[in-house]
Parts: sequence; C-alpha cells; structure tokens
Amino acid sequence: MSNTSPLTSLPAWRALESHFAKVQKVHLRDLFAQDAQRGTRLVLDCLGIYFDYSKNRITDETLKLLFQLARESHLRERIDGMFAGEKINITENRAVLHIALRTPRGKSIIVDGEDVVPQVHAVLDKMSVFAEKIRGGSWLGHTGKAIRNIVNVGIGGSDLGPVMAYEALRHFSQRNLIFRFVSNIDGTDFVEATRDLEPEETLFIISSKTFTTQETMTNAHTAREWALRKLKDPVAIAKHFVAVSTNAEKVSAFGIDTANMFGFWDWVGGRYSMDSAIGLSTMIAIGPDSFRDMLAGFHEMDEHFRTTPFEQNMPVLMGLLGVWYNCFFRAQTVAVLPYEQYLKRFPAYLQQLTMESNGKSITLSGKPVDYETGPIYWGEPGTNGQHSFYQLIHQGTKLIPCDIIAFAQALNPLGRHRDMLLANTLAQAEALAFGKTSEQVKAEGTPEWLVPHRTFEGNRPTNVLLLERLTPNSLGKLIALYEHIVFTQGVIWQIDSFDQWGVELGKVLAQKILAELENKSEPMHDSSTNSLIARYQKLKEK
Ligand code: F6P
Repeated sequence: MSNTSPLTSLPAWRALESHFAKVQKVHLRDLFAQDAQRGTRLVLDCLGIYFDYSKNRITDETLKLLFQLARESHLRERIDGMFAGEKINITENRAVLHIALRTPRGKSIIVDGEDVVPQVHAVLDKMSVFAEKIRGGSWLGHTGKAIRNIVNVGIGGSDLGPVMAYEALRHFSQRNLIFRFVSNIDGTDFVEATRDLEPEETLFIISSKTFTTQETMTNAHTAREWALRKLKDPVAIAKHFVAVSTNAEKVSAFGIDTANMFGFWDWVGGRYSMDSAIGLSTMIAIGPDSFRDMLAGFHEMDEHFRTTPFEQNMPVLMGLLGVWYNCFFRAQTVAVLPYEQYLKRFPAYLQQLTMESNGKSITLSGKPVDYETGPIYWGEPGTNGQHSFYQLIHQGTKLIPCDIIAFAQALNPLGRHRDMLLANTLAQAEALAFGKTSEQVKAEGTPEWLVPHRTFEGNRPTNVLLLERLTPNSLGKLIALYEHIVFTQGVIWQIDSFDQWGVELGKVLAQKILAELENKSEPMHDSSTNSLIARYQKLKEK
C-alpha cells in the first residue's frame, strides 16, 4: 500500500473530477441517440452471464479514466496479492483466502508454509460423508429415529449465507428434510423455529467461526436444553449437535465431540464463509454434488477476476461503476433487484458482504478518508418492489443505481408467468433510463396541470445481469461476482475490506448493560441511557 498515493491525488481521480463536471448532466437518451450500437457495445457476455452496462451514465472517456484509476490504485497487484495468500487484512494480520475454498483439488495455495487446498478438500469430503448420511436417513438420532429437521444456529456470516443459499437453491433441495435458521437473540426466533419440531428427529448445526458470539452461544445452550428436555440423556448431544467453527477448544467445552466438528480457518472472513463448512446446511439440502457445482461456479468467477483484462472483467467493471456513482454522483445507496423469487434473501446477504466490508472511513495507512466509501445496499425481489419503493427510484430526489438480476428460464414454469416477469424486468430498466418527457405526456392529452406529475425524468442507471437459469453453479458465480466487486472497491478506497472493528463497541456495551439490567451493577452511562435502563426495568416489572 505504501506505494499508492492518496486516492484524491491520483491523476486518474483528478481527471475523473473534471470529467464528471462535464458529463454529470448528460442524459442516457442522448447517449443512446448518439450511438446506435451502445446497447450491444457496452455489454459483457461471459461465464453464462449477459451483463448489460449500457444504461449507465458513462461515456467511453469515463470508462477509460475508471480503468486508469484501477491501474493507478495497483488493483492488479492487489488481486495477485489476495490470490497468493498475502496478509492483506492488515489490521488482523490475516490472509484473505475465501478463493481457496473453491480452488480445485490438486492446485496449491501456500499460507504460512502450508498448502491449504488439501485441507479445504478434506473438510469438504468430511462434510459430504455427513451430508449423505443425513440425506440418506442413516444418521440416526439418540432414540434411533432418522433426522428430518436441520436447524442452523448462527448469526451474521454464519447465518445469512446459509439462509440465502437455502432459499436460493430450495428448488434443488431434498424436500423431505425441513430446514430452519435461528440467529436472533430474541427468544422468539428460537421458539418459532422449533415449535413444531420433534427433538428426536432434529439436528442442530452450531455455526460460529469464533464459538464465542453471544447470540449463537445463548441460542445453542437453549437448543441443548430444548433437546435434553425430551431426550434426557446428555449422551444424546453427540447425535443431535454438530459444530462448524475454527475453535475446537470452545466446541469441545460446549460438549460437542470434535469428531462432529467441521473446521475452517482464520483466513475465511465470516461474510465470505458460506462456501466453507458454514455451508453444511446448504450441502445437506442440495447434496454434495450440487454443492461442488456451486463451488465450481465460484471458481470460474474467481479465475475470470484474476486473469481477465480490466476492460472485460465483470467484477472490476461493476466495482468501478459503483465507485463512479458513489464518489462522483454521491449516490448513497445501491438497490439490488433480483427478478427471481428464490433470491429473496440475496439483498440481505449482500448487505453484510458489502457493508461490513466497505463500511470504513480510515485508510490502510491510518488516515481518515476524504471521499465517500461503501454505499448502502438494499433491495427486494421484483416485481414486489415495483409496487412498493420503485416510485422513489423513478421520481424521487435521490439517485439510486440499480443492479437488476434476471434468469430466462423459470425453475417453476407456469403459464405466462416468466414472460410477464421478464417483461417487467426489462420495462423497469427501460423506464428508469429513458423516462417519459413532458412532450410525450402532453401528446397523450394529459391536462397541463398534471403534466409535471406524470413526467419521468429518467437517467436512472441500471446494471442488468441476465442469466439462463438459477442453479447452484450460477449462484456461485453471482456471489463471487459481488465478493470481487467489494474487493475492487476496497482497493480503490484504500481501506481494509476484511476487518469489522465497528461492531465491537456495541457488543462490549451490551455486556455491561446486561449486568445492569440484571441488577448486578449500577448503571453508569449518559443521562439518556441511564433513564432508558430505568424505564425498561419499570416496564418489565409491570
Ligand atoms: O459481529 C460481526 C461478526 O463478527 C461477523 O463478521 C460474523 O459473521 C458474525 O459476527 C458471527 O461471528 P461468528 O461466526 O464468530 O459467530
């Protein structure tokens, strides 16, 4: 990093500033009118993804400068550094090697003198054996009944990936198994997830990288009590609890036999772990072969990111477009709009991936940034969002770049549904870009006073990603795409995308307040917090 000048003093950044002043008002209508080929020229068609970026507020010059910015930021060297296992998570002195989780057998990546690829495959093999036992009904519970219910207990990266992947790949899941996910410390989460389950047929997967997270450990203990209330004998734990963690000592202290533990490594960040053993519930749901197919999709995108020139590199391009809106247009958010019901949890998953990674304001050299970093990610599946918040995207005062994701083939073909879904997808991208002028509105005979209300300014940018079909493989590619977008942006912004110190303070204060709420110590806070504590205690006694 020391060889990179501060971002705002890079020549490409300066050039982008003056370029922005010239093009910020240019309308997509004009860009398309000037170039009949724009819609076929500004696309990438690779890895089974048709990526149309023509409806972005960019010119050829914008792209040239953004690629130059990537070069001046040493993006290529940083990518090589990550793939080589360098300790690029500098604040935690760790390598960042989620890409190793999907590296094929036989290749090698050395970390601290050890090849990690055989270790990855040893865990995958162990997971496969276990998953097949559950799927085939040969893993029996304490009373001899087969496992039918799988409850993943975890939070953050140990929950969002498993939930998202289960929902996304439900079509490929073994339907006689029931999957539930418990994350929140709110007891309701556990109670509702287990109320109709039979302990004799239930397996808990306690998923926690550290095995110290308050929510997960509390829910895990509650799960143990719940199971033992029926199963009585603590020996039963071995048949009904497995752990996914990097912390064998804590797993064993909890009472789970480490033979039933699936490990991973400190070079896998929580939010980058859904394809590690944290994906055990996913593997049980879809089977080891489909899980490996998902890993193959990840790996294809990894290789594309690692080897493709920036101009044709999908994550690099999408990452740079994000920087363009975030830093120059000052767009505060990005909407992710999957036109695929199975991807309903994808925006929530991306929130942790993107915001925990790039929600930083200190550079790698310890200085406060003087530019915008990570945007807010949010979204809902189309078409539901259209009848909710799209109004603001179309006619509000905020610029919201949108990522629209769609699949040509329905997993559940039903009459005209898919054509109607895709018609909406494409119509939204068109409407957002081109809007409707006041002349067009008037020509429809609209009364004069109503014209401004019915006019759409347009010029709202979209990325459209069109794929053939949602499969484990295409899901793997999509997730890796966003992982590498995050990486690209983190490099440009010169931040550490792989730590998360910002979540610590709240955790520490919660421990202190918990003791106070339980009257173990006197509240010692600001006047607001003190009186909220007092009011809570009064209300709870009522
Ligand atoms: O609090 C944030 C965090 O550390 C996330 O980064 C992580 O995914 C989550 O907590 C859960 O951590 P663990 O897997 O160690 O329980």
